[in-house]
Amino acid sequence: MKTKSRIEFGDFQTPLALAREVCSRLQAEGITADIVIEPTCGQGAFLVAAAEYFPGAKLFGWDINQAYVEEATKELKQIGVLKRACVACQDFFAHDWESELQQMPGRLLVLGNPPWVTNSVVSAMNGSNLPAKENFLGLRGIAARTGKSNFDISEWMLIRLVRALRGREATIAMLCKTATARKLLRYAWQNDGRIAKAVLYQIDAAAYFGASVDACLLLARTGSAGPETANVFDSLSAAKPSVRMGLAGQDLVADIVAYRRMRHLEGLCPFQWRSGVKHDCAGVMELRPARGRNFENKLGEVVELETKNLFPLLKCTDLANGHTIPERFVVVTQRRVGDDTTVMAETVPRTWRYLQSHRKKFEARGSRIYKGRMPFALFGIGDYAFAPWKVAVSGLHRAPTFRVIGPVKGKPVFMDDTCYYLPFEQESQARLVADILNSEPCRQFLQSLIFVGVKRSVTVDLLQRLNLSAIAEEAGLGKQWRALERTDYKTSQLVPQLQLVMESAHQTAKGASPKHVSARYGRGDKNVSQVADKVGLEMPK
Ligand SMILES: C[S@@+](CC[C@H](N)C(=O)[O-])C[C@H]1O[C@@H](n2cnc3c(N)ncnc32)[C@H](O)[C@@H]1O
Repeated sequence: MKTKSRIEFGDFQTPLALAREVCSRLQAEGITADIVIEPTCGQGAFLVAAAEYFPGAKLFGWDINQAYVEEATKELKQIGVLKRACVACQDFFAHDWESELQQMPGRLLVLGNPPWVTNSVVSAMNGSNLPAKENFLGLRGIAARTGKSNFDISEWMLIRLVRALRGREATIAMLCKTATARKLLRYAWQNDGRIAKAVLYQIDAAAYFGASVDACLLLARTGSAGPETANVFDSLSAAKPSVRMGLAGQDLVADIVAYRRMRHLEGLCPFQWRSGVKHDCAGVMELRPARGRNFENKLGEVVELETKNLFPLLKCTDLANGHTIPERFVVVTQRRVGDDTTVMAETVPRTWRYLQSHRKKFEARGSRIYKGRMPFALFGIGDYAFAPWKVAVSGLHRAPTFRVIGPVKGKPVFMDDTCYYLPFEQESQARLVADILNSEPCRQFLQSLIFVGVKRSVTVDLLQRLNLSAIAEEAGLGKQWRALERTDYKTSQLVPQLQLVMESAHQTAKGASPKHVSARYGRGDKNVSQVADKVGLEMPK
């Protein structure tokens, strides 16, 4: 297959050694089969291994690629099992799985390795290897536009198979991305998919497929509903599971045992977590100070800009490494989503000309969220982004550390969209909340929620689950937290930003403003203004 087709068809053929290892583990788990089905059989490694490990079983294999069908047939002929095998060219999406699977008698094993490609990659290639109804999970509106409707083709295929097997006893044993296995289980657990038992065995995708993704063998028994948990083994040969994941409410958690011990720390966070500013044009929008009053962008151009629309910027690695003194700036073109950006032609003409000179790059921004928006539009922008104090965390690091970020010469520091933050008006509020979030109970609770190997391990949904009040009590910060809570957000002049972010807060009693100021975060955070001095930059308010 040519490279383009290989990508569109998610073509990563399983080495025979791995297919054998999988079948050996299935056998060790006591799984037997009268019929083995390989829905996308490729060159037939799983059919060959199944022929060896399940000697009495009939073998059915399908693939969209005729050349592979011929190769698989040849392999099965060579080992003398063609009589009990049936291999044919067939598009998975055109297959009537319900009637096929329901009418097959005996013990059924669905085995294999579905394509490793996402719908957006197929679409971008103008490919046709997609299910008919692309928006199959019912994601609409903003979710579809922001990429939540991006899914792995294998996820769709697995869900299709689980639906077709609903109520019928069978074993599914499929290699797939670990993220796909989780999504399938969440779907099945939430939609009465009748999974009696599920187990994940991690595999080394780099060694077997040269792919740097977290992958696993998903083993699931269908037919009746079982516990909404799955043991996770570190390898196909591991004797004991390393952890047990499971469904907790609407979401999966990485360690369901630890989660259940600490679930009292879960609740509705009274503050609204925000994601950092999104511009998708880092080459132009992010600049470092250069000589004099100049700035250098990521394209290597040195430009002189007004400082009015420049704000200090931190990224996720800065937050993860504790580098809270910004060394770069971001051009902020709007105060709120939808603001008219053309006013910049008058207010900051040099900046406007600079952006105009790169207009094509902005117009080429891939994300659909920018379509029909103002030129140079941003997302993740609102009054909250201009709050002087923030408690910020990287979204891409597994062990979250929450940093207190203060203003630089009166200018609020921005985070990019790899980060999340809570905005505050006062340093003392930010420091107390950061203390609570960095406390040991919170750290442990977060560890129970976060999956290893996930790219964006921290999300707004996850942060929003932190019950700051319960965590504060457990961390010995209850008194300070209650003082903060007692603050009347509606009337206090001291905490307008809290009022702004308290979108879902339930506040009643009046009380004193918070007094707590933590020393835990060191002096570094207070010295953020040094960057302005360092670059000789005047930072107007
Ligand atoms: C990741 S490879 C795995 C092949 C085989 N299952 C194995 O384990 O070696 C995915 C296979 O799916 C096949 N495929 C992709 N899209 C398909 C479709 N719509 N219908 C059937 N097969 C498809 C590809 O041709 C490829 O052989």
